[in-house]
Amino acid sequence: MAIRLQFERVTKSFPPQRRGGEGVTAIVDVDVRVADREVVALIGPSGCGKSTLLNLASGLDRPSRGRVYVDGSEVTGPNSHVAFMLQRDLLLPWRSILDNVTFGQEIQHVERERRREIALKLLAKYHLGDFVDHYPHQLSGGMRQRAALARTMAMNPDVLLLDEPFSALDAQTKMVLQQDLARTLWEEKKTAFLITHDLLEAIALADRVLVMSRRPGRIVREIAVDLPERNNPMVRRQRPEIGKLMAELMSLLDIGQGDRLDG
Ligand SMILES: Nc1ncnc2c1ncn2[C@@H]1O[C@H](COP(=O)(O)OP(=O)(O)O)[C@@H](O)[C@H]1O
Ligand SMILES: [Mg+2]
Repeated sequence: MAIRLQFERVTKSFPPQRRGGEGVTAIVDVDVRVADREVVALIGPSGCGKSTLLNLASGLDRPSRGRVYVDGSEVTGPNSHVAFMLQRDLLLPWRSILDNVTFGQEIQHVERERRREIALKLLAKYHLGDFVDHYPHQLSGGMRQRAALARTMAMNPDVLLLDEPFSALDAQTKMVLQQDLARTLWEEKKTAFLITHDLLEAIALADRVLVMSRRPGRIVREIAVDLPERNNPMVRRQRPEIGKLMAELMSLLDIGQGDRLDG
């Protein structure tokens, strides 16, 4: 199976912010391979280097040591093989929802009519068909994240990089969006790297869960989820195996022993 995303012994240190200050080593010797169509979740304590890892995959930042590959090519800068979805939706306030969704394709020089066609189809799919001419401030948080998902999918990336995409949403809205995302990843045969501090979200959506240590972040364990219905997190959440998987992740993160995981 083709490897879509690979971190090869990746270390990232940041220099001191001021003279005489100390630098920060965010992550150390991270090795990860994500195969075609796989959904891999990454969990770990706040500040352990999760977002740093994602920035390296997107080409927004470069590793101090080691290499990052997407689709077999080393990542040396932003590229159209990957697309992002973050906790903040990053919608442009002065553009309509439709024009926000077409924005990524404009950068990719997709022809105007084709852009519209793709965007309208995705907006309908994510239940935003009646809101294409609205502006971001007129939409709820959940609707905005659905628009952000539509924009991400409109770019037709090989790899989706998702950094706590639902963590600002209320529990119910979050579940609906998890369902939309999981279906999309499955139906469109996409590869995804999902950062989350929601253990149940990791189990419900992913094929594997990677656990990172406190900073400097290292991958300390990999848990295969091994449950059916990755396209249906609502069903997965109700399976009897969930409790055991949750307990395993909680103990790896030292939750319940005085430590907090607060993303
Ligand atoms: N651009 C930067 N300059 C200096 N330090 C940074 C920078 N980006 C992140 N860090 C530091 O690296 C560590 C990991 O950050 P981050 O990857 O955002 O953690 P997480 O996403 O797991 O909460 C933190 O200590 C953070 O302060
Ligand atoms: Mg982060």
